[in-house]
Amino acid sequence: MVLRGKQLTVGFSQIGAESDWRLASSVSMEDTFSIDNGYNLIFDNGQQKQENQIKAIREFIDQGVDYIVLDPIVETGWTSSLREAKEAGIPVIIVDREVRLDDEDLYTAWLGSDFRLEGDRACAWLKDFLQESRQGEDIGILHVQGTPGSSAQIGRSEALFDAAEANGWNILQSVSGDFVQAKGKEVAEAALREYADRIKVIYCENDNMAYGVIEALQEAGIRPGTNLSGGEILVISFDSARKGLEYTMEGKIAVDTECNPMYGPALSRLILDLENGKTVEKKNYYDEEQFSAYEPVLAVTVEQKEYPVMIVSEDIIRERAY
Ligand code: AHR
Repeated sequence: MVLRGKQLTVGFSQIGAESDWRLASSVSMEDTFSIDNGYNLIFDNGQQKQENQIKAIREFIDQGVDYIVLDPIVETGWTSSLREAKEAGIPVIIVDREVRLDDEDLYTAWLGSDFRLEGDRACAWLKDFLQESRQGEDIGILHVQGTPGSSAQIGRSEALFDAAEANGWNILQSVSGDFVQAKGKEVAEAALREYADRIKVIYCENDNMAYGVIEALQEAGIRPGTNLSGGEILVISFDSARKGLEYTMEGKIAVDTECNPMYGPALSRLILDLENGKTVEKKNYYDEEQFSAYEPVLAVTVEQKEYPVMIVSEDIIRERAY
């Protein structure tokens, strides 16, 4: 995927460096949009602040880049910046999370994950697990959310709210850990002080928060696992980073639903299509997988579609790119 005869300047506004997933997405962008591949990448780290991302977009416009790529921290608040880019004639491609706008013409295309489907698959797995293991009674859930207002938080949280209502699960508390390990640990410690005996499941909206939650459980002398009647607490996570899969294989994470951060190559193909005058799809979703070590649930069904659950192995972990 090398550009010939022309170097394209791409301004990329990254959210920050809050998680293993985020670091992997930055590496994917830097590896793909390299000088060798015919690109000049201007990378801006937004340090978890929307105002920094808005400033970066303005600078990219001033620099006259060929494309702007935006991974938006939250869904709202982008209209003016994207309008400025459009008026300057610079195509904007949104990656990973989505933006909510009245005028969808303000960006060219979006490429990322179906966060609602990820959440639905995680909840379908929990429902099947509780049935299979006959542990479906009185399910108290601690819900550790990602950054409020981000697509990843909205999709995964809405899936849990709907599944809890449909299955009679009790969400004891929904609290944000901002997708960060230390905050995941902090909110779990506080919740354990308040609801220790009632928590059966902790639904963490990414791996790093799950690592923090698991630390908190272990320090409190509680085992993360699937034997709920034996006092273990079941941890659900998202991303499927290498360490997340190692924890899944060890049984510390019961199910880990993938979120793919390696969007550089697909994004470059999309840009090349635009350069070649092709029409591109407005919304481009990734296919993602789901991993567990619990063998009785080998597939889940969401809206009449069946999705396999991969039983995590050493080989899968070895091949993991992030
Ligand atoms: O937007 C993707 C989410 O953001 C990932 O789940 C998380 O790890 C990241 O920080």
